[in-house]
Amino acid sequence: MSSEQSSTTLAGNSQDSDPVMGPTGRPQTEFPELRALDSHGPARIIAMVNQKGGVGKTTSTINLGAALAEAGRKVLLVDFDPQGALSAGLGTNPHELDLTVYNVLMDRKVQIRDAIQSTSVENIDLLPANIDLSAAEVQLVNEVAREQVLDRALRKVADDYDVILVDCQPSLGLLTINALTASHGVIIPLICEFFALRAVALLVETIEKVQDRLNPALVVDGVLATMYDARTLHGREVIARLVEAFGDKVFETVIKRAIKFADATVAAEPITAYAGSHTGAEAYRNLARELVARGGAP
Ligand SMILES: Nc1ncnc2c1ncn2[C@@H]1O[C@H](COP(=O)(O)OP(=O)(O)OP(=O)(O)O)[C@@H](O)[C@H]1O
Ligand SMILES: [Mg+2]
Repeated sequence: MSSEQSSTTLAGNSQDSDPVMGPTGRPQTEFPELRALDSHGPARIIAMVNQKGGVGKTTSTINLGAALAEAGRKVLLVDFDPQGALSAGLGTNPHELDLTVYNVLMDRKVQIRDAIQSTSVENIDLLPANIDLSAAEVQLVNEVAREQVLDRALRKVADDYDVILVDCQPSLGLLTINALTASHGVIIPLICEFFALRAVALLVETIEKVQDRLNPALVVDGVLATMYDARTLHGREVIARLVEAFGDKVFETVIKRAIKFADATVAAEPITAYAGSHTGAEAYRNLARELVARGGAP
């Protein structure tokens, strides 16, 4: 589809072929290829949040990050989940970590730069986590400005990166509030199943509270439909409901269910590296282009 066609509307173009409809029921836009950046930083910080488990937060963090890194963006991925799935997914052994995000949060003498690691993926650095982080929630309660601890830490390295993605744990507790307070935007990955829709109301309420009290500039960058199965009516209905509720906030890019994602996780690589021409890799590249086109990343 040419960009000319994609910018036309449904009505009044009878001589043009009908626009290709995407899975979200809107004409599919062809987002421009990402151009190289002339300079780097300061980073746009994005929290990947959904208090429901297993919806694709970590997978989306790794693969959106990898797609942006492939296009020359300098990316920092922050593992903000004591399960450490993001760290493991990038090949670190969570038990052999010396310094993690936990130390950065809890010990003011620890420099964030000392905890950040480079990864085997070009342009991606990692601030790792392990089970230590599970204690932070309780320990932070007595801190002054306990919601702003991550924010203060990330500010110190924001100039070194173009994008910082924070992979949150499945909860709306103090760690996730820290992530929302530190961020410019939120991406909500959402598995295409009806019962998953219910969780979103509470999440939106939490985001609004953070906007009210802690971070007025926070915006919802988008809702990302994940693990979509085009063959089932169920999947299509869930997306229709999502678009009804969130309108244009729903990314046109939809991530299909594919076993390759699990394979890539086992290989501890982003799918863009593990199976670069797979539709799943292409989908995350498209998401990166869409995010940039929306102004959600440089
Ligand atoms: N598009 C996909 N197709 C098939 N499997 C997927 C897809 N995306 C993620 N998965 C798999 O689903 C599982 C959950 O994904 P992921 O870990 O990204 O979710 P999460 O929201 O981070 O979970 P948690 O809340 O536990 O941190 C993983 O095993 C992952 O490999
Ligand atoms: Mg996760």
